[in-house]
Amino acid sequence: ILKIMEKAPLYSGKAKSVYEIEGTDEVLVEFRDDITAGNGLKHDVKSGKGYLNTIISVELFKLLEENGVQTHFIKYVEPSHMISKKVDIIPLEVIVRNVAAGSLCKKYPFESGKDLETPILQFDYKNDDYGDPMLNNEIAIALNLATEEELAEIKKLALEVNTVLKNYFDTIGIILVDFKIEVGKTSDGKIIVADEISPDTMRLWDKETKDVLDKDVFRKDLGDVLEKYRIVAKKIGCLK
Ligand code: C5P
Repeated sequence: ILKIMEKAPLYSGKAKSVYEIEGTDEVLVEFRDDITAGNGLKHDVKSGKGYLNTIISVELFKLLEENGVQTHFIKYVEPSHMISKKVDIIPLEVIVRNVAAGSLCKKYPFESGKDLETPILQFDYKNDDYGDPMLNNEIAIALNLATEEELAEIKKLALEVNTVLKNYFDTIGIILVDFKIEVGKTSDGKIIVADEISPDTMRLWDKETKDVLDKDVFRKDLGDVLEKYRIVAKKIGCLK
């Protein structure tokens, strides 16, 4: 790993870095301790956060794979790395919502906390310079982000992810309010789930108390964010 990380990362985002593994179709993903909100405007470093997001993501990727959903995950590398398939990330933030919250309630007259009858799927353009604006199919196609067929495939994939994760979280006493995934294309043209699936990228509420167990704790200064991530990791069973 040290050898792989000697070189500059292939890509470095707000909370993760991706390193090439030379001569392979794989990359090393490093989950850093950075935590950001509001397109990077709010930033902090919390020791242990990268580790928690790694172990949670690893468990959820395994769960998806067990349920027939293809992801980029290959192998966990302790403590806060994973080896993944190299993909071309499609610059979409693929968001699925089961309960109204967040930007949905800011932009539209949805009552926060209200169950949505059917999941709402939304594509945002992953582009910091433009503030990740919401897309429709026509704009996504005109920007050459994906074809009509690919958008339909991505939508299907995201709804499958939702079904698996929502049902699973329900069994451990957590409501999956909403989440964002990123998808990428493998060298043989398959579209698979990439990036991470963690409390940074999902809204998770305790089923009984409605306690917030995700990054909203950081976004809205609701308390000790890592304490909440630890609760999630313990319920998932990847932390003692
Ligand atoms: O902010 P909004 O309500 O649109 O977020 C919906 C879901 O997508 C939330 O779970 C949030 O954590 C996630 N998200 C994300 N990265 C972004 C925007 C949203 O992980 N850049």
